[in-house]
Amino acid sequence: MTEDRHARFSERYASGETPWDSGITPPEIVELLAILPAGSALDLGCGTGTVIRDLLSQGWRADGVDFVRKAIDLASAKLADFHSDSYRLFRHDVTRLDELPELRSDYDLIIDIGCGHTINGAAGMNAYAQAIAERLAPGGIFMLYASHPRPDSTVGWAPVQVERAFGRRLDLLWEQRSHDQAISAPTSWYKLRKP
Ligand SMILES: C[S@@+](CC[C@H](N)C(=O)[O-])C[C@H]1O[C@@H](n2cnc3c(N)ncnc32)[C@H](O)[C@@H]1O
Repeated sequence: MTEDRHARFSERYASGETPWDSGITPPEIVELLAILPAGSALDLGCGTGTVIRDLLSQGWRADGVDFVRKAIDLASAKLADFHSDSYRLFRHDVTRLDELPELRSDYDLIIDIGCGHTINGAAGMNAYAQAIAERLAPGGIFMLYASHPRPDSTVGWAPVQVERAFGRRLDLLWEQRSHDQAISAPTSWYKLRKP
């Protein structure tokens, strides 16, 4: 399944069909960065590095993971002005974070904007939630943006599924629902915190 996803995302980047790649950091993240002191962040499914660029601009250290070579190459180009000590990019599958020992176990902030919701099934979601919880510092924040399931798509997490997988490990601070016109789907932002 992950191979299929990788092939599909690779094709999207190769053809330039990447409507999510707006070059703009979502307001939910901008608002959070305005109140959090700079620390260390991990962006899962970082795409072309837009959020990482904004994190670095505000004094954060940041790591990004994405399994598409072109996305990582574009992110490298976008971050070229920043000191290479302040960020790391990994071309890797987020469902296999255990194979990335370079990642920290004390991130202040982990972000997933439209990546994890491609993982299907309770076992996969639980493993992903566990991997995230293990990499957050106590008090660390996890910001998640996920579409809800749709009949015509295998992508999507229902809020109840998110609560089941993540709620055991992290405290849900809030969920905000809206509707993504581009994909005609309901979506939710979640803010969670490691106890
Ligand atoms: C909808 S895009 C969002 C990209 C970025 N977060 C943004 O907001 O611009 C989802 C990203 O997650 C990546 N992705 C999806 N599944 C992944 C996986 N299993 N491992 C690593 N990256 C993955 C895709 O290559 C793509 O760049």
